[in-house]
Amino acid sequence: TPVLRQEYRPPAWWVDHVELEFDLDATETRVTSRMSVRRNPEVDAEPLTLSGAGLETKRVEIDGEPAKFDERGADETLVVEGVPERAEVTTEVVVHPERNTALEGLYKSGAMLLTQCEAEGFRKITWFPDRPDVMATYRVRLAGDRERFPVLLSNGNCMETGELDDGRHFAVWNDPFPKPSYLFAIVAGELSELADTFTTRSGREVALKFYSEPENIGQLDHAMESLKKSMAWDEERFGLEYDLDVFHVVATHDFNMGAMENKSLNIFNARYVLADRETATDADYEAIESVIAHEYFHNWTGNRVTCRDWFQLTLKEGLTVFRDQEFTADMRSPGVKRIQDVSDLMARQFPEDAGPMAHPVRPERYVEINNFYTATVYEKGAQVVRMYETLLGRDGFRRGMDLYFERHDGQAVTCDDFRRAMADANDADLEQFERWYRQVGTPTVEASTRYDESAGELVLELAQRLPEHPDNRNIGALMIPVKVGFLDTDNRPLPVTLSGESEAGPETRLLVLTDEKAEYRFRDLPADALPSLLRDYSAPVKLDYDWSSRDLARLAGFDSDPFSRWRAMRRLSERVLGDLIEGRDEHDAELLIEAWAAVLDGSGEDPALAAELLSLPSVGELAQDRDPVDIEAIHAARVELLGLLGRRLENALRERFDTLAPTGEWSSEGPDAARRRLRNVALGLLASGGCDDAAEWASKHYDGADNMTDRLAAFRTLVHHELEGAQDALADFEQRFADDQLVMDKWFAVQATRSDERAVDDVRRLMDHAAFRLNNPNKVRSLIGAFAMMNPVAFHRADGAGYKLVGEVLDKLDDINPQVGARLATSFNRWRAYDDKRSAMMKEQLQKLAAKKGLSPDIEEIVTAALKDR
Ligand code: ARG
Ligand code: ZN
Repeated sequence: TPVLRQEYRPPAWWVDHVELEFDLDATETRVTSRMSVRRNPEVDAEPLTLSGAGLETKRVEIDGEPAKFDERGADETLVVEGVPERAEVTTEVVVHPERNTALEGLYKSGAMLLTQCEAEGFRKITWFPDRPDVMATYRVRLAGDRERFPVLLSNGNCMETGELDDGRHFAVWNDPFPKPSYLFAIVAGELSELADTFTTRSGREVALKFYSEPENIGQLDHAMESLKKSMAWDEERFGLEYDLDVFHVVATHDFNMGAMENKSLNIFNARYVLADRETATDADYEAIESVIAHEYFHNWTGNRVTCRDWFQLTLKEGLTVFRDQEFTADMRSPGVKRIQDVSDLMARQFPEDAGPMAHPVRPERYVEINNFYTATVYEKGAQVVRMYETLLGRDGFRRGMDLYFERHDGQAVTCDDFRRAMADANDADLEQFERWYRQVGTPTVEASTRYDESAGELVLELAQRLPEHPDNRNIGALMIPVKVGFLDTDNRPLPVTLSGESEAGPETRLLVLTDEKAEYRFRDLPADALPSLLRDYSAPVKLDYDWSSRDLARLAGFDSDPFSRWRAMRRLSERVLGDLIEGRDEHDAELLIEAWAAVLDGSGEDPALAAELLSLPSVGELAQDRDPVDIEAIHAARVELLGLLGRRLENALRERFDTLAPTGEWSSEGPDAARRRLRNVALGLLASGGCDDAAEWASKHYDGADNMTDRLAAFRTLVHHELEGAQDALADFEQRFADDQLVMDKWFAVQATRSDERAVDDVRRLMDHAAFRLNNPNKVRSLIGAFAMMNPVAFHRADGAGYKLVGEVLDKLDDINPQVGARLATSFNRWRAYDDKRSAMMKEQLQKLAAKKGLSPDIEEIVTAALKDR
């Protein structure tokens, strides 16, 4: 039964403080909890009800006396009778970290014990009102074997350490900031440490400590630098300083997600921490910088001000993603970052919006909250936050943030509270804006232009529409910021002046569409002015406007807005690909080739932007808007067009490959990374074009690489194009990096994503590889996830072998790690859009899962939604 947003009720009991004692052991850990509870006088009296899952309860006491309690296994609660208005409630439980393969609660990774509590993992550690609006201070005593667990960490400050009998020792930690249970964490193990310091603007010296397994200690420097940049940036941009004397980051290889913002004890998937030149790509370097920033930024947006309930998840995630996007834009290239974020939204979030699990950024209901850590809540949520900034301006947004913290520091609040702070700080009316939190699916803005001869005005008409969805029935019109500009025939920007205005307007003008339809009249524009609409992707909508192919090529080449250039190029290539897919002889490939040639020609200025422009939509993206989907035809069209581009641009590509060769010292920074990026794009295109010496070039590039970016790009080119030398490279890569788990993930992923039906057999074989483990989420994602989500050609193999493989893996994952399994299960979401045979085979896999005894709620929720009648 789902939980409903509208049914939120405040807790009947508060917990002001909790003392936890851990007697650590991998097979059996004893947890004692002493909670200072207080009845909430504002709601009707109710017995104290605690959440717990898989706990072996040893004792329950009220103020030191044995208590009467009722443990209800089915709904995972413990009801304690007869608790006075204020009391100390003690529980003692035993948990089994080693048996915990779901990686939620307390579990074991390598030799280390650690926790993951968000969203509802704390209840797997001890009995507690495990909901984010119950905020307590924590004092934690960790005790364990000194040899096995020399490092003992928890949130806050270390108060005391000491020796115990039998080779054991202990540490006591105290976190002075009240926090919800999902931010609790401990880590215990044999870890090496990299230490540094950061002095805040107001003079607090913060000890920064990064922990990893001893063999990876040399790979922490980039993450440390990233943290220092993040801390400085948040002070500069938002006036937000760190608030404790220590900040810890721990890297683990076994982690369900990217990372976790536990108060002062961030825990990271190793892939978002560890980096050096030989093992991490430029993209890894950038991802690490951004995830480090993201988790650090949560200290204010998430921790100091937290969520009242899990429906508000986007309050902290959408906002924090927006903040990390702005950080990366400032550290690197704003235009390129914007393109990447929008392109990622379109590739990952649009399908969610169009699929069976479609939900608003603030969901209305859920069965398993872990299934709602989605691109919608995170990425679309960030676009919603960005719209506040677009509407209110950067200073106005900052005023809203300041008021938000002034009002809500130390509280658990809602998306409405955030919106009110934004409105009140700017004296703005944002009532209508609330609809963005309720609407489901991607809205469409339809645009059309005409020239009114008699008035001498160019007229732009905008109309908005929401997708068909029961939850959209009573929404009404959204408040949609639309940035527009116009180009003259020489592709120069024109001032955008509304009719009736006396002064010439700006080059980019913000229009705010608040009605179903609106008409905007501009004066002093030529009749043939070329509109550039939704610049900067000013709202998360689909834009419907009928540009000619020639105009798209003009925008791609000359618009001042990088996002608009990218989108124009995208549309042009989608159009050509569409024609090829449908088998039409007439198409605009020549225009596209010209446009690409122009980009290559001018690519010296901004090679990273050029690399973004010189890309085609993936097979998966091209499949999005088609029904029925013909994967083979899409793939064939793409191969054909890439081949054509590679051949026709061969000389320019060769020239680029040469001129972009590295000059000075290697660095992971923007300009250097940008050169490598375009150079590797050129190599890939040369291979696509079937150029004679592509194999030789790729092998040379592989062997000569002095960094992972180049080596991996060459490796991928060799393997994906089955060039001569591919087998040698596979063997060499495997042997070179056999001991590096993270690099082996790349080795698996490259093979899993080869666009060839035989990849199914490769994946099956690789599942038996010594480095593969089904109980390691990174391995599952890099081999099975990459296969199911990023290799449509093989996944949709006509004989169903791809579906069968994923179905088998899901059956096993359901027992091992439902959270990771549920993500993988979404690969069947669009089963209805395929031909009858494939559709039936996918449905069969879903039905098999649905019929499984003891299927996890995680996977059940996904499978049920996918199978539901429409
Ligand atoms: N709050 C974390 C982050 O975005 C993600 C935690 C996800 N946990 C989960 N159980 N889904 O930084
Ligand atoms: Zn987050």
